Amino acid sequence: MGGGSGAWAVPLAAAGCTVTVVDSSPNALAALQRRAREAGVGEHVTAVQGDVDALAECIEPGSADLVLGHGLLEVVDDAHGAVAALTAAAAPGAAVSVLVAGRTAAVLTRVLAGRLAEARAVLTDPDGRSGPDDKLRRRLDGPGLRALLDGAGLVVEVVQGDGVLDGWLPGSVRDGGAAEVAELEALAAGVPALREVAARLHALARRP
Ligand SMILES: C[S@@+](CC[C@H](N)C(=O)[O-])C[C@H]1O[C@@H](n2cnc3c(N)ncnc32)[C@H](O)[C@@H]1O
Repeated sequence: MGGGSGAWAVPLAAAGCTVTVVDSSPNALAALQRRAREAGVGEHVTAVQGDVDALAECIEPGSADLVLGHGLLEVVDDAHGAVAALTAAAAPGAAVSVLVAGRTAAVLTRVLAGRLAEARAVLTDPDGRSGPDDKLRRRLDGPGLRALLDGAGLVVEVVQGDGVLDGWLPGSVRDGGAAEVAELEALAAGVPALREVAARLHALARRP
């Protein structure tokens, strides 16, 4: 859901999944189809233009083995409604994977840049926004993400950091030591204190 140009859909199709991408943007879906063709998995990826509010019109409820909502909850009007739609699309026992912008990292990056008023806004705004011009509708912390998924009746199995080191590593180090960075990233992802400073939070939950 909100699969955009296929950053996740195409690798999943290459790994053997049959993927349906529902997205409201025709341009993103056109890019997805190009990307899937170029990767040789065009026949395993179906692009459907649709809104998360009407997901049940695009995907038979209870039919998906895995539902991804990556980069979605921070851009939709109604995060609770979106999680309910992701849950409804999942088959009983299926997994729902959510990746969302982290609030604490957004506070710290603004502090480091000396943008204290924005940092204060992200910290205190109920949705973690820096102000009316913020491109994102919300940012979440670990407990907030867990509560959102719990509220939809999902059983949360993992909440971890994604991109824990993003934003904190000097670019020269990141570019020069990819293997070392990946190893450190994997170690840091599951550490609760570091999870909260990750650029994104990842949750894996299951429909009972
Ligand atoms: C930040 S992109 C994430 C793309 C992809 N999931 C990824 O992780 O690379 C968000 C996507 O959600 C789509 N989107 C935003 N609001 C939506 C809505 N209400 N219904 C369906 N798709 C939506 C956008 O068109 C965009 O492709």
